[in-house]
Order: sequence, then structure tokens, then C-alpha cells
Amino acid sequence: MISPEAAARLHGLAFAGQGRGWRVAEFADLFAQRGVVCVGRPEGFALTRVIADEAELLTIAVDPEAQRQGHARSLLGEIEMAAAAQGAAQMFLEVADDNLAARGLYTASGYAETGRRPGYYERATARVDAILMVKAL
Ligand SMILES: CC(C)(COP(=O)(O)OP(=O)(O)OC[C@H]1O[C@@H](n2cnc3c(N)ncnc32)[C@H](O)[C@@H]1OP(=O)(O)O)[C@@H](O)C(=O)NCCC(=O)NCCS
Repeated sequence: MISPEAAARLHGLAFAGQGRGWRVAEFADLFAQRGVVCVGRPEGFALTRVIADEAELLTIAVDPEAQRQGHARSLLGEIEMAAAAQGAAQMFLEVADDNLAARGLYTASGYAETGRRPGYYERATARVDAILMVKAL
């Protein structure tokens, strides 16, 4: 578990240039919600919401200074185990088509594409598809 302050700081660092970071109050609200599970360490964190037997990965972020050292891969493993312990049978997520680091992470971690939302994310000059992915836990 990490504090809302630490989560907001890491989120801002990891998503710099990719839109608005989530604020401390937003993390505090999320952490208080039923079914929301967070795993974290100084270098990064992952957040999921479990509803019945389905979990949704809400976000995962690693400090740019600590990327490519396996933190996200192990955070994802930890959050999958935590979600499964709460009864989730599947983990769902959405990722932007142009987010090659995250897509690489999810594919390497056993997630498979199940669909797309065309033009879901707005960028400065274009719209980008959201890719929907799922993994059985
Ligand atoms: C995506 C993110 C969480 C990955 O964190 P990380 O700790 O660097 O990832 P890991 O070191 O655990 O990498 C695991 C695997 O993911 C893939 N991967 C990670 N970064 C990658 C990159 N920049 N390009 C291609 N593949 C990448 C690789 O397969 C990697 O395995 P390898 O290093 O053995 O090749 C990190 O880049 C990040 O915080 N990005 C900004 C936030 C974000 O986009 N979150 C996801 C939103 S859907």
C-alpha cells in the first residue's frame, strides 16, 4: 500500500506529457472505495477495482527513473494475485494504441486483445484507439 500523495506523485511523473495527472484527493477517494486494491513500492504502483468476479486495472505507473527494471511486471503480478484473492477470475484493462511500453508489458504478461474503441483517446494532433485486453487469473 502507498499513500495517496505518493501515488499522485508517481502518476504525475509517469504520465507527464500524456494528459492530466490524477490528484491526491482522487487517489484518496479511490483508496476508500469498496473493491479497490492498490499495490505499491517507492518506484511505482498499480491499482485495480474488483467487482464480483471481474477486476479492472485502473492504472499502473513506474517512476521514469526506475523503468525497464521489472517493477511493472512484478507489480502487475502482485495486483493480479490480490484481485484473485478477492474473487476475480479475469483482469480487464484498456491501453492506448500508441502506448508501446504498456502494450509490451501487457502482452509479455499474458494479456490478449479482445476489442478496440476507435479514436477513444484524444492527442494533440490525432485520435488514438483504445485497445481492450483481458487475462484469466
Ligand atoms: C508501462 C510502464 C508501467 C512499464 O513499467 P516498467 O517498470 O518500465 O516495465 P518493466 O520493466 O516491468 O517491463 C516489463 C516488460 O514490459 C515491456 N516494456 C516495458 N517498457 C517497454 C518499452 N518502453 N518498450 C517496449 N516494451 C516495454 C517489455 O516486454 C518488458 O520486459 P523486458 O524489459 O524484459 O523486455 C511504464 O513505462 C510507465 O509507467 N509508463 C507510463 C504510465 C503508463 O503508460 N501506464 C499504463 C497505462 S495503460
